[in-house]
Amino acid sequence: MDYINLAEMEAAALAALPPMARDYYASGARDEITLADNRQAWARIRLYYRVLVDVSRRDCSTTVLGTPVSMPVLVAPTAFHRLAHSDGERATARAAAAAGTVMACSTLGTVPIEEIADASEGPLWFQLYVYRDRGITTALVERAETAGCRALVLTVDAAEIGTRERDARNGFALPAGLTVANLAGTGKALLTPGEGSALSRYVRSQLDPSLTWRDLEWLVAQTRLPVVVKGLVRADDARRAIAAGAKGVVVSNHGGRQLDTAPATAEVLPRIADAVGDDAEVYVDGGIRRGTDVIKALALGARAVLVGRPALWGLAVGGEAGVTHALELLRAELLEAMALCGAPDLAACTRDLVTPG
Ligand code: GLV
Repeated sequence: MDYINLAEMEAAALAALPPMARDYYASGARDEITLADNRQAWARIRLYYRVLVDVSRRDCSTTVLGTPVSMPVLVAPTAFHRLAHSDGERATARAAAAAGTVMACSTLGTVPIEEIADASEGPLWFQLYVYRDRGITTALVERAETAGCRALVLTVDAAEIGTRERDARNGFALPAGLTVANLAGTGKALLTPGEGSALSRYVRSQLDPSLTWRDLEWLVAQTRLPVVVKGLVRADDARRAIAAGAKGVVVSNHGGRQLDTAPATAEVLPRIADAVGDDAEVYVDGGIRRGTDVIKALALGARAVLVGRPALWGLAVGGEAGVTHALELLRAELLEAMALCGAPDLAACTRDLVTPG
């Protein structure tokens, strides 16, 4: 595999995928303004590199919630990996493990969490959607714990699914043979064709739009796992999440897929990181496609970034090897950016790198 960067890999994946899967992964909500802005916001930031620092050895390892990772790049939760490759989430998990990083598994996986855990030795997090049926939700939490997941990632930006107009036009549904595998046996595993996007209908009918901070407290009390709150763009919400017991927050607008014209994550990250301080870990996702984006995120206060679509493009072009390639491109670019920024380790990736000196 000789893609020189993630953009080349993305182009190859878009050409290879069937249109319905391609559009599902690629699209953002409505006019896709936030989708584009996420990427542009990283590109707009300039790096004020230091010179004459010994960077002959560089170390990009860190920890996330106590779990050692070889780099500050984690695999974001994304749905339906078997739309991209028949091995689906198993392949993604193996690639994340080989890269020495965390994979966050989606509630909406096409492989059940137990089978993902069996397929790989690597650290897993479990992304949770809260169902109207709390029994289903608590069963998912217990299964994630039993499968050995290290954290629960509660998605809080999806009271409804943002309308991805390409999916509505395509009548997005899961092809025969693919299901919401974690929900097998509950009567909630199918996304069958009908009017508009089957995912919109599914979320509207199954997930709980009445979720509040109290439910976050409830979840924290339900589980022995640390809870990470994903999908916020405001410092006051980050503080409330921590007050409710969250151990981490993901600054995220769901890859531009939920509320269109929500701010780019790069823009809101520093204010949130400052408000959180050392009280919890701050992560960010959305539009990260270059090692320079990663170093900017760290300089703005993130402990690590998550990448969603790049893993899917890797999966589409080469299964496990493709995901590995995507992650290793980011690692190599990050190490290069660290050398050129005069940052031998992640502790040296501080705010001055993005502030005129
Ligand atoms: C699912 O969470 C999606 O954003 O499509």
